[in-house]
Formats: sequence, C-alpha cells, structure tokens
Amino acid sequence: MEKNDAKPKWYEPSREVTEQANVKEYDQLYRYSIENREAFWAEQANQLSWYKKWDKVLDDQQAPFYNWFVGGRTNIILNAIDRHLKSATRNKLAVIWEGEPGDSRTFSYHALNREVSQFANILKSMGVRKGDVVTIYMPQIPEQLFAMLACAKIGAVHSVVYGGFSHEALADRINDANSRVVITADGGYRRGKVVEMKSVVNKAMELSPTMEICITVKRTGIDVYMENDRDYWLHDLKSLPIASNKCETEEMDASDMLFLLYTSGSTGRPKALVHTHGGYSVYTATTHRMVFDIKPEDRYWCAADPGWITGHSYIVYGPLINGSTIMLYEGAPNHPYPDRWWKMVEKYGINILYTSPTAIRGLMRFGDSWPNRNDISSLRLLGSVGEPINAEAWSWFHRAVGRGNCPIMDTWWQTETGGFIIAPLPITPLKPGSATKPFFGNELAIVDDAGKEVPDGEEGNLVIKSPWPGLAKSVFNDPQRFVDTYWSKYKEQGWYHTGDSAKKDEDGYYWIIGRNDDVIKVSGYRLGSAEIEGIMATHPAIVEAAAIALPHQLKGNAIHITAVLKSTYKPTKELEHELMVHMEEHLGKIARPEAIVFAEALPKTRSGKIMRRLLKSRALGLPDGDLSTMEE
Ligand code: WTA
Repeated sequence: MEKNDAKPKWYEPSREVTEQANVKEYDQLYRYSIENREAFWAEQANQLSWYKKWDKVLDDQQAPFYNWFVGGRTNIILNAIDRHLKSATRNKLAVIWEGEPGDSRTFSYHALNREVSQFANILKSMGVRKGDVVTIYMPQIPEQLFAMLACAKIGAVHSVVYGGFSHEALADRINDANSRVVITADGGYRRGKVVEMKSVVNKAMELSPTMEICITVKRTGIDVYMENDRDYWLHDLKSLPIASNKCETEEMDASDMLFLLYTSGSTGRPKALVHTHGGYSVYTATTHRMVFDIKPEDRYWCAADPGWITGHSYIVYGPLINGSTIMLYEGAPNHPYPDRWWKMVEKYGINILYTSPTAIRGLMRFGDSWPNRNDISSLRLLGSVGEPINAEAWSWFHRAVGRGNCPIMDTWWQTETGGFIIAPLPITPLKPGSATKPFFGNELAIVDDAGKEVPDGEEGNLVIKSPWPGLAKSVFNDPQRFVDTYWSKYKEQGWYHTGDSAKKDEDGYYWIIGRNDDVIKVSGYRLGSAEIEGIMATHPAIVEAAAIALPHQLKGNAIHITAVLKSTYKPTKELEHELMVHMEEHLGKIARPEAIVFAEALPKTRSGKIMRRLLKSRALGLPDGDLSTMEE
C-alpha cells in the first residue's frame, strides 16, 4: 500500500459541479450540525414521511445504546417505496438490472411495489412475522432486492449473507440468528460460469436445526435438489392467490430492527450488527443525497455487492428513499471484456458510479483504451469505499474514467456506522487518498491509547466522539459484545472506537491508514483473523495457525498464514495447496490465503495471545518492536 506522505495536490471541483450542488457550503453547516445536533437531524428527518413523528430526537440515557427519533412510527418501506407511489416518481425507473449473460430487466417504482408486495405476502403465508429473521443468500438479481424489501415491509428482519461464503459460514450465520426461512436462487452467473447457490444452501440447512423453509428463484435452470414441504420455487408461489399485489406496510417503531449484518471483528466469531428502521433511514438518505448530490433525473450505480453494508445502505436503502434510479449488475467487471462496466455506463447513461479501490485497480491494469472506446461522458460524480485508495488508482479513476472533471467521493465508514462518517461533498477541494472531512453531525479525533489527541500529521486511533443516527443499535443477542468491542477502550470519554489508524493534516483532512486490530480487508471485503485461524485449525494437519494481512497490489491486502503442523505432516507444496483449498471450501474464495508458511511454533505473549503484529513486522522486514510480553 502506498504511503500517504507525498505532498498532496489539491483538486478543485469545477464550476459546473459546484453551481448545481445540493449543498453549497460546508463549514457553516458543519458548525451548525455540531452545535445543534438534534435540530440538524430533526430537519433531515422532517424530509421523510412518518406514520407518527418522534417525541424526542435523541435519547442517550442508555448510552452507548442510543435511541433516535424516540416515539417515532415508521417503516423504511414507507419512504423507500410507498411515498413514491403518490408522486410522479411512481412511473420512474427504480431498478435497471443487467445479468452477466446480457439479459436485462427494469422496474418502475410501481413495479417494484408490486414485486415487493407479492414477495411480502408469500413470506407472510409461510408464517414469517414481525421480528423473525429471514436469511438471504443470493446472486445479484432483482429478487435479492425484492426479498430484502419484502422482509422490511412486513417487519421481518433480513440477514443477507454474502453469496461467496461457504455452506458452513452460511450455517453459522443462520444458526446464530435462529433463522427459519432462507431465500436463495438455483445459482447465478460469474465470469461466464454458473455459481451454484441452492446446493450450498442445501448443505447449510443440514447443519441448521432451525431451518424450515427455503424459497428459491430460478435464475440459471441448473438441476437442483428440492425437498417436499421444505423447498419452494418462487415462481410457483407467485402463481398462487396468496401472492397478491397488495400488502399493507407494517407500522414499526423507529427503534425496531430492520436488518442484521454479520461482520468480522478482531476476536471470535462474526457478530451481527443490528440496524433499525428510523435512524438508519434518516442517515442513509441524508448522506446519499448530500454526498452524491442526488438529482431526480440521475441514474446512480453503486457497484458493490448487496451482501455487504455498502450494498444495504447505498444500493438499496439510501437511493430508494431518495427516489433514485439504481443500476444493478450481476457479474464480473471484466466479462466478457474489460469494458463491460463502461459499456453499461454508456448504454444506461449512468451519472454516478460508486465502487472500490480494488475494482478500480482491477480495471486500471487493462489500460485506458477500454474506457476510451465507450462514451462514458454521462458520468458526473465518482465514489470509492472499502479501503484506502492509493494515488495511482485515484489518478486513473479521475483521469481515465472521470475525464478529469468528476470529483471522487472517497467515503470512509463501517458496517457499524450505517453510513458515511468521513466524506467530501462535491464542492470539497480534494486531496487524492484523503476521505477529507467529517460528515455533518460527527465529531472525530485522532487519539493515542490513553485518549489524548495526537498532533496533526501523526498517526493515532480514529474515534467518533458523538452519536449519529446511523450507528448500529447493538450486536444481535449480545449487547455486552457491543459495549466491549466499540465502547470499552474509551469508556470514560464515551467515544466510539473505530479500530482504524488515521492521521489528520494541517487542513483538517483525514487520511485513513488501515485497521489497527485483527480485521483483514481483502479486496475491501472484511474478514476476521480469528475466523480464518479457526477454520485452518479444523484441517487434520494443523496444530494452530495465525492469519495476518500483508499489502497486495491489486487486493489492497492479502491473507498470509503461518501454520504449525502436526509432527506426522511434512511441509510440502502439495499440503500448502490443500490448505488453500480448505480455506476456500470452508469460508469462501475470498478467504484463499496468498501464502502459507510453516513454522515450529507461533510467537505468543505470556498470556498465550498470538503476536500477529510481530509476524507482520518480520514479514515486512520492519523492526520487531516491544517484545517484553513475549513468552520464552
Ligand atoms: C475500511 C465498509 C479507507 C476501514 C463500508 C473500515 C476504508 C473498514 C474506507 C470497514 C475508505 C472503509 N478509506 N478505508 N474510504 N472505507 N474503509 O465494515 O478500515 O466492510 O474500518 O464497511 O473498511 O469495513 P466494512
């Protein structure tokens, strides 16, 4: 990864961009939002519809379990669909979808409502009730969106599991959530091949005692095993009278659960963050509207996977609340050729493209000729998320894709934060590699381990000092873990500990360096070293293993494993390969290690903790640092 030390070069936004920007001024509004936090958020919330408005904007009595819009009655669907049906937005395109083979479908808001209502009625007929957790494991097809929205509509809680995870990872998440219904597809398309999904779900269901019902979308037509009274095809259910086009949206409390999303932390098993109907609606809609400068006529494309938080907040909820036309694409960016994305930008006239540094680097290596052979001049704004963007990727994105006049919104945030915490506005002068300044309402600081602010330009821990409406409500079924993970390090101060290292420069711009815990970001996807190590240890050859992240040109970071073998096993190339396949099979392809080295023992502290930091500094040829806690 590139260091952000080079003298930054400013990029001033063009007059064209600033003149039409939704928000024309930052400093004053920022100050206002800090001094009048509740008033600021009430003004934003007032732009949405409510069944009943809140009695109190923020209740911090149970901090860090903050309650926003207390007493407010809503449902995210009231804003994402229902209110649009009463305006001209009803006939506007909500979704433009293209499958990897080239098939395409579009849905107006009217059609979206029909699909979601039918799906919601089907779920109800299967006994799904308010508060039940429904697991969604799907390719990127419109039904994935419909399934999420249908759950929300009836007050059920969706738990989307990334479609690249193995059956075991899926079963873990189903079991943790006590979910009895799963929605999937027979498969999806990726790089010209069918990726099986229903067969993975079948294996997961065998490990999940709570699983009763599986609804499957026919996407590819491959043969799949369907069990009587457990497995149903969506198209069969849709032809039944129960699947009517009309379904009342369930009135919810602002603080009722909307979804769970599993994410990796530094220790233990993945945990489910809980997001709610009220605060999350307000936060995703406001951040999306302001940062991406959303206009009614825009065609907006967030090329993330709906299985991660970026997809939840900025493919689905924020954009639909803002009545945007969203683009959704099923497959690989370079299939069949490296200009697949640019072809779609031209074909559908996309104005805003939001993606990750890994995807940008992946397309950059094919060169300028691929974007150049398409007319992508409809693009007005670009966005980046998931990992720090290196200067080279930034410049290429800016020049080759943005033709030098599309500002890049580098947005820093987390599954836990629900939406952008640090992000520019289109009017913000940019420095490549910096996510710039805090979004409205957020007070940040870079501090040392004791909580003392470090001087400008020095590295420290990034903390958030004040609550915001997008903040997760808790960890599902484990509130103590929520407190321990995020609020114990700076308990006295009551600050949220992000787990990221960062610097602030003399202009108040933030530069994210990366995780300072054992979370690993591979291609922007979030994995935990503990989960990876646990799976390594299930292989019969392994005594124990340590997983660390090392820089990788394309992926940002890659997984490197140090493994201790049982004495009966020899450290061979074959075994290394077998262990890599083991990781793929048990967690997923994204978890395939870059390299595995074998060692006699792992460096540990006297209390038995693996010293991953030492493994990392040795691999990078850096000094060992403090070894006083190391065991003999
Ligand atoms: C990293 C993804 C640098 C960061 C939305 C954070 C970033 C973690 C950026 C959260 C960015 C996210 N620049 N790093 N613009 N955005 N990160 O939960 O380390 O999958 O803590 O949420 O991604 O990952 P998560």
